[in-house]
Amino acid sequence: MTKKKILVTGGAGFIGGNFVQFMVEKYPHYDIYNLDLLTYAGDLTKHRDIEKKDNYHFIKADIVNSDEMTSLFEKEKFNYVIHFAAESHVDRSITDPNIFVQTNIVGTQALLNASKLIGISKFVHVSTDEVYGELDFNPSTFFTEDTPLQPNSPYSASKASSDLLVRAYYETYGLPINITRCSNNYGPYHFPEKLIPLTISRVLNDQKIPVYGDGENIRDWLHVYDHCAAIDLVLHEGVNGEIYNVGGHNERTNLEVVQTIIRALGKSNELIEFVTDRPGHDKRYAIDPSKLGELGWKPTYTFETGIIQTIQWYLDNQNWWKQIISGEYEGYFEKQYNL
Ligand code: NAD
Ligand code: TYD
Repeated sequence: MTKKKILVTGGAGFIGGNFVQFMVEKYPHYDIYNLDLLTYAGDLTKHRDIEKKDNYHFIKADIVNSDEMTSLFEKEKFNYVIHFAAESHVDRSITDPNIFVQTNIVGTQALLNASKLIGISKFVHVSTDEVYGELDFNPSTFFTEDTPLQPNSPYSASKASSDLLVRAYYETYGLPINITRCSNNYGPYHFPEKLIPLTISRVLNDQKIPVYGDGENIRDWLHVYDHCAAIDLVLHEGVNGEIYNVGGHNERTNLEVVQTIIRALGKSNELIEFVTDRPGHDKRYAIDPSKLGELGWKPTYTFETGIIQTIQWYLDNQNWWKQIISGEYEGYFEKQYNL
């Protein structure tokens, strides 16, 4: 039997990296190809334990390069594409939206074209709940797959645009696609510019934690391992053309998240520093995951169990994040926060 070839884009990043490891271990009979440009957010040291395995392969390439994508797809004849590669940080999209348009929109279209050309069996586009915009603080309102797209940041607008292209390739050309829209992830290998790893690393260094505005904005947190299992399920069981929201009903205000981490590490809330709010800061995200539940998915982590596992991981893997928060990141942090 010939092995199935799975292309994972962005597999050197946070979620894609966890997904690559999950797939390499779970499916020895699949060949997993990790395609990544290795931008500031990509790092291959996380794959030391799998890089010698026969079913793991790495390709350094830029998804925006349409010719390169076409010849690669013609050569390798991938069966499935799981598309994570993106610029993913809202604050960076506010400072420099251009690269978000290039990577997230133009790059997705290059992959769709190449996938159509070779008649791929499934294209899973990993999107975000941020495409729906924001909810108010009424706790009984949730994003469903039918919620209108109203993205507020350049990041979420670029993701919404790519979602629409993916949908169009299904409607126009019959490309077998799924779109997943997940809430905020956390867990191992989360890049320390995002709220949770930023807080853990700074609390461990006794540094101030910048909380935007009054800290009352709400995010719905999902452990990255639960997101990986959801994507695996959609890849194998998702109905072509369908969108699936992914989330575990773990809503917390940013202040609650930061205080939980400070408490778990035995430090003081005096580390919290309220700073100028993010422009266009979405108030609340909350997912209704019942459609995915009908496929048989349910999360295995609560926020309480997941955050403890994650904090322990950052304690055990200090070399990984310390190497990141030196160098280019230092300059970014100073410019962003003035702290
Ligand atoms: P990340 O920033 O950690 O990783 C992105 C990866 O894409 C990096 O390895 C980077 O090198 C690679 N990349 C960037 N530009 C590229 C290009 N032109 N060609 C090839 N590779 C390129 O992102 P993440 O947090 O792991 O998010 C992955 C995906 O999941 C994104 O599409 C994001 O929109 C989506 N998502 C993220 C979250 C979250 O909470 N982080 C939640 C829902 C959905
Ligand atoms: P983030 O991790 O950037 O994810 P997203 O913007 O995609 O939701 O931010 C999560 C929340 O934390 C968001 O409401 C913004 C807030 N935040 C802070 O208060 N301080 C920070 O330094 C960062 C990075 C985020």
